[in-house]
Amino acid sequence: MAKQLRVALVGYNFMGRAHSNAWRQVKFYFPELKLEPVMVAICGRNKAKVEAVRERFGWAEAVTSYDELLKRDDIDLVDITSPNNQHAEMIAKAAAAGKHVFCEKPLATCLADAKAALAAVKKAGVCHMICHNYRRAPAIALAKEMIAAGELGEIYHWRGFYLQDWLMSPDVPMMWRVQKKIAGSGSLGDLMAHSIDLAHWLVGDIDSVACTMKTFIKKRPMLADVDAGLGGKAAEGAKMGTVDVDDGVITLARFKNGALGTFEATRFAAGRKNYNAFEINGSKGTLVFNLERMNELEYYNCSDPDKALGFRTIQATADCHPFMGLPGGGGPRYWPVAHIIGYEHTFINTVFDLIEGVAKKQSPAPNFEDAVKTQAVLEACETAHKQDAWVKVPK
Ligand SMILES: NC(=O)c1ccc[n+]([C@@H]2O[C@H](COP(=O)([O-])OP(=O)(O)OC[C@H]3O[C@@H](n4cnc5c(N)ncnc54)[C@H](O)[C@@H]3O)[C@@H](O)[C@H]2O)c1
Repeated sequence: MAKQLRVALVGYNFMGRAHSNAWRQVKFYFPELKLEPVMVAICGRNKAKVEAVRERFGWAEAVTSYDELLKRDDIDLVDITSPNNQHAEMIAKAAAAGKHVFCEKPLATCLADAKAALAAVKKAGVCHMICHNYRRAPAIALAKEMIAAGELGEIYHWRGFYLQDWLMSPDVPMMWRVQKKIAGSGSLGDLMAHSIDLAHWLVGDIDSVACTMKTFIKKRPMLADVDAGLGGKAAEGAKMGTVDVDDGVITLARFKNGALGTFEATRFAAGRKNYNAFEINGSKGTLVFNLERMNELEYYNCSDPDKALGFRTIQATADCHPFMGLPGGGGPRYWPVAHIIGYEHTFINTVFDLIEGVAKKQSPAPNFEDAVKTQAVLEACETAHKQDAWVKVPK
């Protein structure tokens, strides 16, 4: 593994931590890597805060200027985990500096900015990937293999949920996630974007949508520290701010291949902590996935003998399952079968495919082309809600 891929990361909070862990671990679990990742620098606006995490996260340097970072010739790839409104500009600058780009979802806060980000990486000829990490949950990748092999037959229904409950208390403050100018949208772009990406991958492109969304709690206290991520607090007697994004959203969809879809995303589903789930019904059977039991895929096969008809639970942790075995039958990549894996492995698997893509000079899916398609559906949902009508997904 002689050649290196020198990486800089932007952001040090929730996703900064998840990505740092993936960059640290990927070499350990994927010995077949064609490029060796080197964790050169982590970037954030607050020097003390970035420096405080630098060593634990595994980065050689802590820096505060993104523009200075891009001038350096010892960085090949920039990994962006800042809030949504910063993605498009950061991507354009990184691409112009000749850096490959890995970016958190959603690609931007609107379709025009997402298209500009795609145009920038295409013009520069750099590799790009969006972090829809759930494609790399082994049970979901297994669902993809089964659908591609025709095991579900013709797909009739997609039913996607992404349900959380952390925003239900009126005491949760005005963090960036509830501000349209920073987030673009609420549960739509934050949660439903993941479901839309999975639906595109597993079922096909979406033709048109109907949508309704609602903000249940419209006023919240201002955040004490703007840098705080999830769990940030308001100061005593803080002024109130106005929430201008959706708390919950429901979408109906028609797929281009004739399948029908429903999507639901919310931060107001009491008891649902990270219920990222889907059910796909086809002419030959059904698949069901729920991230809270992420090692499992439920499968109903219409061809089973009558006496055995029923859902079975496949635990997607054997060497034959996606990402779980070393190449050439070399044994488990992670642990022996049924010694389960977790959330962080979806990021490790994603970063592996990213590194392989850069080595081959190909942008791995989902790349920014896929991200623009997802952003187009997000935009169609907003338009459908405003117009109270079915809306075609824009090109
Ligand atoms: N792939 C996933 O499953 C997943 C999960 C969570 C978040 N995300 C995405 O990752 C990105 C970052 O999310 P996160 O959960 O790490 O966020 P976070 O709130 O935990 O951290 C945000 C980081 O950005 C910095 N920041 C820069 N400008 C800011 C501003 N104006 N207001 C507040 N913070 C600012 C903060 O200091 C902090 O380091 C977002 O684009 C989000 O949509 C993806």
